[in-house]
Amino acid sequence: MSNSKDFYFPSQEIVDNATVKSYDDFYKKSIEDREGFWAQEAKQLEWYKPWDKLVDESNHPFYKWFVGAKTNIVHNAIDRHLKTANRNKLALIWEGEPGDLKTYSYHALNREVSEFANILKAMGVHKGDIVTIYMPQIPEQIFAMLACAKIGAAHSVVYGGFSHEALAERINDAKSRVVITADGGFRRGKATQLKSIVNKAMELSPTMEVCITVKRTGEEVYMENDRDYWYHDLKALPIASHKCETEQMDAEDMLFLLYTSGSTGKPKGLVHTHGGYSVYTSATHRMVFDIKPEDRWWCAADPGWITGHSYMVYGPLINGSTIFMYEGAPNHPYPDRWWRMIDKYGITVLYTSPTAIRGLMRYGESWVKRHDISSLRLLGSVGEPINPEAWRWYHDTIGNGKCPIMDTWWQTETGGFVITPLPITPLKPGSATKPFFGHEIGVVNEKGEDVAANDVGALVIKKPWPGMARTIMNDDDRYNETYWKKFEDKKYYHAGDSAKKDEDGYYWIIGRSDDVIKVSGYRLGTAEVESAMVSHPAVAESAAIALPHELKGSGIHVYAILREGREPSKELEKELLNHVAQAMGPIAKPEEVIFADSLPKTRSGKIMRRVLKARALGEDEGDLSTLDD
Ligand code: WT7
Repeated sequence: MSNSKDFYFPSQEIVDNATVKSYDDFYKKSIEDREGFWAQEAKQLEWYKPWDKLVDESNHPFYKWFVGAKTNIVHNAIDRHLKTANRNKLALIWEGEPGDLKTYSYHALNREVSEFANILKAMGVHKGDIVTIYMPQIPEQIFAMLACAKIGAAHSVVYGGFSHEALAERINDAKSRVVITADGGFRRGKATQLKSIVNKAMELSPTMEVCITVKRTGEEVYMENDRDYWYHDLKALPIASHKCETEQMDAEDMLFLLYTSGSTGKPKGLVHTHGGYSVYTSATHRMVFDIKPEDRWWCAADPGWITGHSYMVYGPLINGSTIFMYEGAPNHPYPDRWWRMIDKYGITVLYTSPTAIRGLMRYGESWVKRHDISSLRLLGSVGEPINPEAWRWYHDTIGNGKCPIMDTWWQTETGGFVITPLPITPLKPGSATKPFFGHEIGVVNEKGEDVAANDVGALVIKKPWPGMARTIMNDDDRYNETYWKKFEDKKYYHAGDSAKKDEDGYYWIIGRSDDVIKVSGYRLGTAEVESAMVSHPAVAESAAIALPHELKGSGIHVYAILREGREPSKELEKELLNHVAQAMGPIAKPEEVIFADSLPKTRSGKIMRRVLKARALGEDEGDLSTLDD
């Protein structure tokens, strides 16, 4: 798989400009003195009160970081900058899909966030409450997140593509009283619906009392007295003062909750905290992308996912970067939208997903060549393994052969990058390369022993790190069970990916080894898709598998056993596909329904999805000893 001729070496210019010039030495030190390394990183931030203990490992797997410290992520993301020249620097450049433009300096960001924070207070939001945010990609989405954090409330951002049922489930699990939304957003020239979906979710929620709606599209929406408030109306009231104290939080207080899919039906609300997450996101962002004051940073993710939380909002703002945000579709009105904006705003770093790259690649390079995108100095990729063809296109056509690609492996659970190159790292297309500082990674067998070079095994993280999720909301047992039980005696974190490490020590992520499917980089559970399927009256039983898809990476294929009296047909297939999209949101729409008479199961009744997958791909079905009948 690897030969030194396969390496892409960084240019002399990159090496000359790099802050970290030698990975090996720095890495070795960070492993030998892990606490010293994190303490040094933590000291780059301001704390209201320093920590008494860097990490408390006494209650595995419930680690605590910066114990005794007082902080608030907003202090480092905003307040601190107001005392320096950063005050006048652009914090946010935003372009709406119709072409409207807004910019905010750090000073203006502070004003917006403070006003929003005061509005939340006036609406009865208290420290410790969880506010649900369901918004399009508009500046107010970022303001809302920061406003919650500023007053010590936690946010739970739900991706705007989720259905009202999925939204209600998350609102109810978090027991949110207040939801922040918008009438809609713009996507492919049309206004999307958000408030109307929130209205439907509200009917399914016993906890929701107040909804704050930002006006974006101007479409008519239903509003109810004493429940619904327009944001601009509230902003015009004296309650919305632009002065607001930042709440002093314990380092371990919850900053946010973010739901992600696992191998059972119910989404997991992962908990991240103020202290450790501040240190981890800022250190990884700063070092991996070697952030410079003159950068214009574009993380083209949706804040509804962890990528948006860590690398669109928190990490970059803590580092005082200028962030760029775009509301809409990459190919609207033409497939050169992204390149046009990179040219216009002088973006220096683009961080996106393989699925987005593949999507833009298919339009060909002439769309790219119309624009001068030479301001780019680094590129990034996240969400799924990047196929070498897309990697080379990204590198050669977008990066003009001069921008190294930071292929960053991480998860909602890890809070930030775990396996990643630095700008100086010689790259191999498709490999996320090496562990970030402070991390020991393993590729292990069932017993937790490291396997030989180039053998496939389970990816584990051997030691705790500050950005790790602290638990699953309302479910400590599930947290322990999902991530720590498997290699309990070694205290390894079980990531759920299979991987291999080559003879150069480079990691190659193969994909999920559990029942999680990555569609266009979005994480979906087979169980969620299956439960959506069986909620249709025609379906008795269902199994979902992932098969390779040219653009999406993986596509969902579902098997259905129909109820008595129902016959397979093209119409029924279409109906079922739409039914799943309705129940979960459009991203979950399967590619096809395969009608079947039976499904392969173990004797204990578990569906053997890997057998279905092997059959669909015409591959060896592997060990069938547990197959029933
Ligand atoms: C899963 C986590 C991390 C932010 C976005 C996804 C896959 C993520 C890579 C990469 C290969 C990757 C893994 C991981 N993944 N980045 N660079 N190379 N695979 O977060 O939704 O929590 O998904 O995404 O399978 O376990 P997430």
